[in-house]
Amino acid sequence: MSNFFIDPNIARAKTIDTSFYLDPACLEKAKEQIFAPSWQYIGHTGMVPNVGDAHPFRLLENYIDEPLVITKDADGGVHCLSNVCTHRGNLMVYEPCTGLKHLRCKYHGRAFHLDGKFISMPEFKEVENFIPENNHLHDLPLYQWGPLLFTQIKKGLGPELFFKEMEARIGFLPIDKLVYDPSRTSDYYIKANWALYCENYLEGFHIPFVHPGLNAFLDFKDYTTDIFKYSNLQIGASKSSEHCFDLPVGHVDAGKNIAAYYFWVFPNMMFNFYPWGLSLNIVTPIDAGNTKVTFLSFVYDASKLDTGAGVGLESVEQEDEEVVEHVQQGIRSRFYHHGRYATKREQGTHHFHSLLAEFMNQSALI
Ligand code: FES
Ligand SMILES: [Fe+2]
Repeated sequence: MSNFFIDPNIARAKTIDTSFYLDPACLEKAKEQIFAPSWQYIGHTGMVPNVGDAHPFRLLENYIDEPLVITKDADGGVHCLSNVCTHRGNLMVYEPCTGLKHLRCKYHGRAFHLDGKFISMPEFKEVENFIPENNHLHDLPLYQWGPLLFTQIKKGLGPELFFKEMEARIGFLPIDKLVYDPSRTSDYYIKANWALYCENYLEGFHIPFVHPGLNAFLDFKDYTTDIFKYSNLQIGASKSSEHCFDLPVGHVDAGKNIAAYYFWVFPNMMFNFYPWGLSLNIVTPIDAGNTKVTFLSFVYDASKLDTGAGVGLESVEQEDEEVVEHVQQGIRSRFYHHGRYATKREQGTHHFHSLLAEFMNQSALI
């Protein structure tokens, strides 16, 4: 696998080599180089509302596929733990539980506190050199923003590098009041590489061509992209002030008609803020040519649902899927290896490709 190169000057740059999407070895390498050291959404505080709750899950199921569990301990602390018993590797929690005093393995009875600390193990008195402190459940870093929870399974860059710009820009919204709405949550299966799905999201260039409904609402000439280190922001300006954010005096965007903030956080998370709340999209690779995208809705003003730029997310999604699946077919061509970027319209895609190259080329991450 050769190194990837993206010229930092977008006017000179070529898009990432198609081997990135097509070579299964790249997807395998991306697990350790891109996904494991980045921050990943794992759930929300509503999954463990009470002391003694435990919620098991697999991180990026069928890709990273790490068994983890979110718990709430007696002091109300939320933890993200390895869900694997340190004795012989049984899963600790099989399904969501409530009212637990501690975690007890169903195989041979090893017990742990809800913060993962080892408590006891039957029949281990004669075991030599057994150090309980080395047998806690692995306790992963946890980052919380409002009700949203994130972890990192391989030590890497701090969460502030990924989230701080979004938090500053969106801080005027009542993030703590976001409530998960399961009725507005769906999984989409796309016959395309995960990166093709992301890079399509990262430019509004295609909106007039692919999304006629959305285009009628947004003002394409005022569509902007701001690039940060590990995230970027696209702003959908509206043709009218109806269904826009009420921005506080002094906010950097005060006075503008903003219908949506589209934040992308490297490598696979999209935070779409509308006046009603947040549509969070999580992109999970399945294999080099297949991807799952999960749409999760968090609402804080239900009266504004089904208005503005957040209307018809389903049909916008179908329009995106259709074009991305056609691109997947196109990049397999022996006559296509890479393209170029429109300098004012594809900065987000250029940013994404640059980060892919940076992470894939690193020989060893911190
Ligand atoms: S595997 Fe958990 S106690 Fe044996
Ligand atoms: Fe789109």
